[in-house]
Amino acid sequence: MALINENYLKLKAGYLFPEINRRVKAFAAAHPEAQIIRMGIGDVTEPLPPAVVDAMHRGVDDLAKRETFHGYGPEQGYDFLREPIAKNDFQSRGCDIAADEVFISDGSKCDVGNILDIFGPGNRIAITDPVYPVYVDTNVMQGNTGVATQKGEYEGPLYLCATAENNFTPDLPKERVDIIYLCYPNNPTGTVATRETLTKWVEYARKNNSIIFFDAAYEAYISDPNIPHSIYEIAGARECAIEFRSFSKLAGFTGVRCGFTVVPKSLNGFTKPAASAVGKPVPLYNLWMRRHTTKFNGASYITQVGAAAVYTDAGKAQVRKLIDFYKENARLIREGLTKAGLKVYGAENAPYAWIKTPDNATSWDYFDTLLTKVNVVCTPGSGFGTAGEGYIRLSAFNSRANVEEAIKRISKL
Ligand code: MLT
Repeated sequence: MALINENYLKLKAGYLFPEINRRVKAFAAAHPEAQIIRMGIGDVTEPLPPAVVDAMHRGVDDLAKRETFHGYGPEQGYDFLREPIAKNDFQSRGCDIAADEVFISDGSKCDVGNILDIFGPGNRIAITDPVYPVYVDTNVMQGNTGVATQKGEYEGPLYLCATAENNFTPDLPKERVDIIYLCYPNNPTGTVATRETLTKWVEYARKNNSIIFFDAAYEAYISDPNIPHSIYEIAGARECAIEFRSFSKLAGFTGVRCGFTVVPKSLNGFTKPAASAVGKPVPLYNLWMRRHTTKFNGASYITQVGAAAVYTDAGKAQVRKLIDFYKENARLIREGLTKAGLKVYGAENAPYAWIKTPDNATSWDYFDTLLTKVNVVCTPGSGFGTAGEGYIRLSAFNSRANVEEAIKRISKL
């Protein structure tokens, strides 16, 4: 008899985005004439930058010849990618991160879930609410939570409410927690954290021996020069933070799949302490290296060659153009829907607009209104947590024509 991981039975519903897809598919089947505009999941629509495409073609050609063929690569990623990442994403911003502290993967969603492998049971988790659902669900799967409550939360984690009143930047916990998930620029609210806010978190984590999981998947959308792009811009973060990055929203890799995780060598977790003692510090770097090399065989050579092209002069210019295109979509959404009388947050240093539902409609009710009345797909805020109730999220990842049409349709409501 094969026993299952019963933690999976605690999971409330299906994962958010497949659930949205299911509803949209049902609507589309019943209304084949509807011209549906999808602004729900943050999935890119524009082609890969030409420098990336050219590099990937060259990568394929390499694999076609014995002299340049590549079989298994290093599990942690090729130096030709890790080095430009360390230099451009970190060292150029004054962050003390070395190339061998960068672990290349097939995307940050996987890493955000997989990282829990190297942490033991019993850690107290803090997450913001609303939040990227992967943080919560992977902790449920891992057994770090109790059952779902009536309210729609899980017993166990500390939920830090991000509301309009606190500018979607929750206060520090009053109690001690072991692992803190932070995502800035934030998914789903599209808001950012200032240097002062991040400094407070780093100080809290160092004081409490906590680890910050810093998800910076949207850092390329920051245009305010005072907002940090990396947690390692904050002094002391090397001793308390792991950072997750992605090429998805940076260079259009949602379908290609490539991301990376930074685990500084100076970052420690602890063994379980004997009564009244302190546990023994253990470098998390060694554990992640062991996990990565055991359970992963590296992102594909072609993918990494393509990702490395993002750091060439041509790649940088093309990526900038791509980000600016989506940022302009975000501006149009923010300004257009504000003009239409909606309360719109975010969408300045992030590709997401977080919108208060009119007339206090629930998130799913307004989702249905947008889908059925104007054929626009959004993401219901309550899908990101109970504090997201009464909001919807619109993604700026779309063609200009679709964004303009969606704004026009929503404004008519
Ligand atoms: C989102 O829409 O929140 C993201 O695209 C989902 C993801 O990155 O997995």
